[in-house]
Amino acid sequence: MISKIWLSAPHLGTSEEQYVKQAFTDNWIAPVGPQLSEFESAIDVYLNASSFSTALSSGTAAIHLALKLLDVTIGDEVICQSFTFCATANPITYLGAIPVFIDSEPGTWNMCPVVLEAAIKDRIQQNKKPKAIIFVDLYGMPAKIEALLKVASAYDIPVIEDAAEALGSTYKKRKCGTFGQFSIFSFNGNKIITTSGGGALVSRTKALQERTLFYATQAKEPAAHYEHQHIGFNYRLSNVCAAIGKGQMEVLETRIAQRQANHRFYQEFFSGSKDISVFTSPHQKYQSNYWLSCILINSSSSFSPTALIDHLAKHFIEARPLWKPLHLQPVFKTNAYYGGSVCEDLFNRGVCLPSGSNLTPSDRLRIAEVLSEFLKRK
Ligand SMILES: Cc1ncc(COP(=O)(O)O)c(C=O)c1O
Repeated sequence: MISKIWLSAPHLGTSEEQYVKQAFTDNWIAPVGPQLSEFESAIDVYLNASSFSTALSSGTAAIHLALKLLDVTIGDEVICQSFTFCATANPITYLGAIPVFIDSEPGTWNMCPVVLEAAIKDRIQQNKKPKAIIFVDLYGMPAKIEALLKVASAYDIPVIEDAAEALGSTYKKRKCGTFGQFSIFSFNGNKIITTSGGGALVSRTKALQERTLFYATQAKEPAAHYEHQHIGFNYRLSNVCAAIGKGQMEVLETRIAQRQANHRFYQEFFSGSKDISVFTSPHQKYQSNYWLSCILINSSSSFSPTALIDHLAKHFIEARPLWKPLHLQPVFKTNAYYGGSVCEDLFNRGVCLPSGSNLTPSDRLRIAEVLSEFLKRK
């Protein structure tokens, strides 16, 4: 039976199981415990900037809490990158606020700073100054962060960096996940490291981290009977899951190198192709972890992304289209959108190829053979 090659499968190291066993031995089977604190410290040390992480049950929960801490509430507008997974925008709606979507720029595929500024001006003119901005480092590629932060600061609007896919990427040598008022990571099973499911909210100050913890644990005021002046959430990561995360942090650098090696493999494979280009950093200041390796098919080419994805699927190789822009999703069809067709064009022409850090040389060979067979027939 031929084994399936997944798009991005979990990849455990050698110590995760031992740390989970330790949590069992010590009976820290709760959303509190030593592994949780150690996992958070490991993230903070890794980020190597003034960053204070709170480990949570998901990246989605982290975005929800960041918006809550920025006082986003019913009727507010929040600017959001359109080209992303739905989890970037969904938490805006959990608070009764309204996402306003922005197109990408073609270099990084992330939020276009020029369109961002035009959108802010227009919303202000309509007396609807945005309450926050969420940009994304999609597929691991850092956004044009400096330009985005400059626009945001000119209009005094706080920023959340959605670095769910970008742990280990850097912008001008500074780690993604350390920009804006808040950043978030995801440790879902498909991410560069996993806690099976989980996320983190990274604050820039200790005081904000304390507020995060307060809201993530049901907003309990300091009283034995649990006094409540605010509505909180049950969003803390389990200590058992954090034990997995602690082990994963030990292999993070290796995982980044392995994903970057996948990207180099695809670059080499498609070099000289007239039909396909591999999505690559537009400048050395953007260092991607290449969480997923993505390609674009020329519009003049004789085949579609779907044909390629179907061909790979027939050979038990998983590939996927790029994220469908959120302004094109039925659920957001009435939301405001600023920009042109950059992200729509990427969606129409793009494919994510198998990118797991556990791809073996023989997996790569199989992928190369199946791709070659497809391209020869076209
Ligand atoms: C860009 C982006 N934002 C947010 C999330 C949400 O993370 P989670 O699945 O941990 O809730 C994900 C991942 O799923 C993502 O890819």
